[in-house]
Amino acid sequence: MKCRKCGGAAALELRRHNAAFCPPHFLEFFRKQVAEAVHRHQMFTREEKIMVAVSGGKDSLALWDVLIEDGYQTAGLYLDLGIFDYSKESKAKCEAFAASRGQTLHIERVAEAVGAPIPVVQQATRRPTCSACGLSKRYLMNRAALQHGYPVVATGHNLDDEAATLFGSVMHWQTDALPRQSPALASTHPKLVRRVKPLYRLSELETAAFAFLRGIAYIVEECPFAMGANSIAHKQVLDRLEEASPGSKHNFLFGFLEKARPAFEKIEHVELLECTSCGQVTTGAICAFCKLADLVKRRTTG
Ligand code: AMP
Ligand code: FES
Ligand code: ZN
Ligand code: ZN
Repeated sequence: MKCRKCGGAAALELRRHNAAFCPPHFLEFFRKQVAEAVHRHQMFTREEKIMVAVSGGKDSLALWDVLIEDGYQTAGLYLDLGIFDYSKESKAKCEAFAASRGQTLHIERVAEAVGAPIPVVQQATRRPTCSACGLSKRYLMNRAALQHGYPVVATGHNLDDEAATLFGSVMHWQTDALPRQSPALASTHPKLVRRVKPLYRLSELETAAFAFLRGIAYIVEECPFAMGANSIAHKQVLDRLEEASPGSKHNFLFGFLEKARPAFEKIEHVELLECTSCGQVTTGAICAFCKLADLVKRRTTG
C-alpha cells in the first residue's frame, strides 16, 4: 500500500475513501476533515472562545489537539461523573493533557450539581444510567459555557457515534430526535450556547489512529455503565454493513443530513422559558435537570 499523497509506505488504509496514507499525510487528512466540518457548518470563528468537552477518551482529546494546533482559542471542560476509578482515571488524563499544552481545564462535579454521583443517581431514578447521565452532561455543558463566557461547546462525537444514534432514532421512529441530529446546533435562546461536533466526518478508527500518532495518552476503558444492549447491537449492524460495503455509515449519515433532515425540522415554534428554579432554558416551568436533582434528593435522604 502506498500513500495517496507522496507514494511512500502507507500506514493506514481508508477503504471508505479508497485511499491510504503515510503517518504525516494521515494527520494532514484528519485535520483537513475537521477544517471542512468547521467551515461547512460555520461552527466557530478564530475570534471566539471554544469550550471543548473532554471525557479523557481518544475522540475528545484528539479534537482538542487539532483545535489547539490550528490556533483556535480553546479551554477544556471535564465533567466528573463520580463513576469510581473510571472517573478518576479519565480526569487525570484530561488534566495531564491540559497541563502539557498549557491550556485551561474547567472541572464540574456532577455530584455537587445533582446531589449525588452518577451511580447513586441511577439507583435513585431506576432508569437506565445513561439517560440521567446524558441529561446531566448536556445541562452542565451549557451552564458551564454560559458561566465562563464561551458561546460554543464542541464535543468529540465521531461518524460512528452519529450514525449509530441516527440508526437508533430511525429504528424507533423517534421523530423528535431527528431534527436535533446535526453536526451543529444553533443557539435558539440567549441562555443556550451553540453545540458542535467537528469530528462527525471521521470514524472511530481514524480518531484512534490520530490519537496514537500524536502520542495522546487517553483512557481506553469505556464507562462501566456504557451503552445498553440496543446501542451495542446498532453499532454492530452498522459495522457489518461497513465491512461489506465501505462508506455505508458515511452514506447513511450524510444522506440523512442532506436529504432527509430538512423534512423533519419542526415548522411550529416551541416556546422556550426559563426554569423557575435554576433559570436555565426549559419548555416547562421546572427543567428536567432540576426535577432530576429533586428526585435524587428525595430518594437519597428519605
Ligand atoms: P459519549 O456520550 O461518552 O460518547 O461522549 C460524547 C462526547 O461527549 C465526548 O466526545 C465528549 O466531547 C463529551 N463528553 C462525554 N463525557 C464527558 C465528560 N465526562 N466530561 C466532558 N465531556 C464529556
Ligand atoms: Fe454516562 Fe457512562 S458516561 S453512564
Ligand atoms: Zn504520504
Ligand atoms: Zn432548572
